[in-house]
Amino acid sequence: MKKLLLVGLVLVFALVAAAQVVITVAAGAVGTELELARIAAQLYMDENPGVTVRVLDTPDMVQDRLGLYLQFFEARSPEVDVYQIDVIWPGDLAEHFVDLYEYGAAEVVDMHFPAIVENNTVDGRLIGIPWFTDAGLLYYRTDLLEKYGLDVPQTWEELEEYARIIQQGERATNPDFWGFVWQGNAYEGLTCDALEWIAANDGGTIISPDGVITIANQNAAEAIQMAAGWVGSISPFGVLAMAEEESRAVWQAGNAAFMRNWPYAYSLGMADDSVIKDKFDVAPLPAGKSGAGAATLGGWQLAVSKYSRNPEIAADVALFLASYDMQKMRAVDASYNPTIMDLYFDEDVLAATPFFGTLYDVFINAVARPSTISSPNYNQVSTLFFQAVHSVLQGRTDAVSALEELALDLEDLTGFEAIFDF
Ligand code: GLC
Repeated sequence: MKKLLLVGLVLVFALVAAAQVVITVAAGAVGTELELARIAAQLYMDENPGVTVRVLDTPDMVQDRLGLYLQFFEARSPEVDVYQIDVIWPGDLAEHFVDLYEYGAAEVVDMHFPAIVENNTVDGRLIGIPWFTDAGLLYYRTDLLEKYGLDVPQTWEELEEYARIIQQGERATNPDFWGFVWQGNAYEGLTCDALEWIAANDGGTIISPDGVITIANQNAAEAIQMAAGWVGSISPFGVLAMAEEESRAVWQAGNAAFMRNWPYAYSLGMADDSVIKDKFDVAPLPAGKSGAGAATLGGWQLAVSKYSRNPEIAADVALFLASYDMQKMRAVDASYNPTIMDLYFDEDVLAATPFFGTLYDVFINAVARPSTISSPNYNQVSTLFFQAVHSVLQGRTDAVSALEELALDLEDLTGFEAIFDF
């Protein structure tokens, strides 16, 4: 009897202890991200009553979010167990995360795009399980192109021209109307946008994959100078302070003809309460000199902190959030691109977001930022880059001078050699 009581007590204690496991996930809150993460967390809790999954809201802008994460890492804080990490971060942040191969990822990793898995693998360790991928897209108003007898712009020159025509026409009735909105604030989003202009113009990828600083070239300078010409003409001056959500706000209010943004904006624009519902579509970004458009590769992974008290359960949560069913839900309900290849052939996914099928090539050919080659200094590389671009957009300097200076700064920072090709 005593023995039984003891066993019973031990069991009760074990259950209480298990019930106390709290896993905190630091997640993004751009668009519907936070809501989606909370729904998935609830589903996990329904299946695992002993675990509480807390979803922590983090800043929208990449460098702000990184700053917060670095504070946790600095303190070796166990407060956050799972981090949503950008596709550019595995190299810079690898030391703070466990190897997910040691926690069951080997069984699921083959479902995901191999290039992303490779990106997330540092010295053979899987730093993050891919959660969703991203690529820059051109959003355009189908009703307005029709109204003005225009086609989807194929080149940046056409975009500029069409944006001007539509803006001029629409201003007659809507003084708030603009031709083109994008991400011009001085942060990672500008690195993405500017890389698209430059790569499409045959201007390279800032630092080549084999470690040459290539950014100081004529094609890159032309591309940035072109964008500087948009500010205050087809794009509001305020674009220089816009991140994804600020540009989406203008676009979704019906106040822009074109927008550059990531896929998440599709589902929100198509929502029942959206004034542009069924009045827009998406296309590949326009081409420059290279003859083809370029989309920057974005996307987010789930990584488990080395400082977590429960890495095993944390990894289980991460793998659940990134599982087939959860990625499917995110794709269908909110147009977040899966990293699981089969979902691009899933009927429900394609019905909800047809462009996952039609623009498949854009997603698999997206241009990577030079994060692997420049790790662990990628964030500094990008910061120097977007600051240089931002100063040209503000009209404080010209593109050639800015890129020349940038290349020298990048030499100092990385130790790589720069080529100058003006
Ligand atoms: C998106 C992308 C991410 C990128 C960020 C820039 O969230 O997925 O990779 O760094 O935008 O703002």
